[in-house]
Amino acid sequence: MSTSAPIRPAAAGTAYDVRRVRKDFPILSRRVYGKPLVYLDNAATTQKPRAVMDAVRSLYETSYANIHRGVHHLSVESSEAYEKARETMRDFIHAGDTREIVFVRGTTEGINLVAQTYGRANVRSGDEVLISALEHHSNIVPWQILCDEKGAKLAVAPINERGEIRMDELEKRLSKKTRIVAVSHVSNALGTVNPIRKIIALAHERGVPVLVDGAQAAPRLPVDVRDLDCDFYAFSGHKMYGPTGVGILYGKAKHLEAMPPYQGGGDMISSVTFEKTTYNILPYKFEAGTPNIAGAIGLAVAADYMNALGIENIEAHENDLLSYGTERLSAVPGLRIIGTAREKAAVLSFTLEGVHPHDVGTVLDREGVAVRTGHHCAQPVMDFFKVPATSRASFALYNTREEVDVLVEGIRKVVEMFRP
Ligand SMILES: Cc1ncc(COP(=O)(O)O)c(C=O)c1O
Repeated sequence: MSTSAPIRPAAAGTAYDVRRVRKDFPILSRRVYGKPLVYLDNAATTQKPRAVMDAVRSLYETSYANIHRGVHHLSVESSEAYEKARETMRDFIHAGDTREIVFVRGTTEGINLVAQTYGRANVRSGDEVLISALEHHSNIVPWQILCDEKGAKLAVAPINERGEIRMDELEKRLSKKTRIVAVSHVSNALGTVNPIRKIIALAHERGVPVLVDGAQAAPRLPVDVRDLDCDFYAFSGHKMYGPTGVGILYGKAKHLEAMPPYQGGGDMISSVTFEKTTYNILPYKFEAGTPNIAGAIGLAVAADYMNALGIENIEAHENDLLSYGTERLSAVPGLRIIGTAREKAAVLSFTLEGVHPHDVGTVLDREGVAVRTGHHCAQPVMDFFKVPATSRASFALYNTREEVDVLVEGIRKVVEMFRP
């Protein structure tokens, strides 16, 4: 199967050569409205390298069957590939044990799983769950649902004008009542890289566990869950060049062991009678039903692909695009960059004086440039900056400085068109 074949990105083993990297992504050569596609909506989802698509296709063509249930040859092959993918993902985030790697649908499901299991078992009336004002809705709403059910309070650490968490305020809100802290590693709306190591240390000094939403960090930063010492870390495959519908929830074994199951069904049980069911060992206790087998295998290939390019190289490349993009966008009259954190990932959210972000997005689209416009599932962030929406360009390992130039030219056109 190609899933066991070594991943050789076009640029592996050379200095980071973005021209060669781009050759791995077939979609990047397409045109939109007759213009070359400039895909800058990577914080929403990333495009897929050929290696990922080949692995998924190869599984279906040669080795596909349901896993963990059959003695027949194909089932054994599929099961082995699925478990090998788990091992790859363990290594990707430097977890100590594959028992701590749960395949989920994505970040959203990972966070809901923790809220509904750890949260329901540990949060009681009068307790508090602490998040930050920078969170994606998927790291707000699951905790709100839990707090409503339990009569607990959702405490929120505010941000400053740069879009950074105010650490003094966060510390004040860490109280005897806090049962869990849930915070993003990197903000999708602004690109802020949060000081999660410090947040985890502060919480742990008070015996409070921490869940990290790693949706925007896993695609671009080295992640070492043991070094961070986080209790939970959730991320999505589709934002890190893998398939949709698959992601990872890392949890420390001591927590996962103690937590009740999330969903009931096949594979998560050890034995079932009408009187009593006993649950499977980790991580299967949290993987009810037939999982996204091909997705998991494709995700592992995406992780291999990123490793072969070098996560540090990816990070450096994106940082270069961020500084170049910040400099060029800042020179556009009437353009305001929202989110100017000192530690920032390659996300540029902006507003243009007198122009609605949807108009910005529509004009850019005609130029072949895909950006996201809206509240980016982070309405409290928009409220803080007193804007209804922003336009957001977010970069990935395959973007170029020339694409930033096309973006800037497109924005200049918007300015021309809407000049009073
Ligand atoms: C920071 C952050 N958290 C969570 C999510 C939710 O991810 P998913 O929709 O893949 O579950 C996103 C997606 O945009 C995100 O950017």
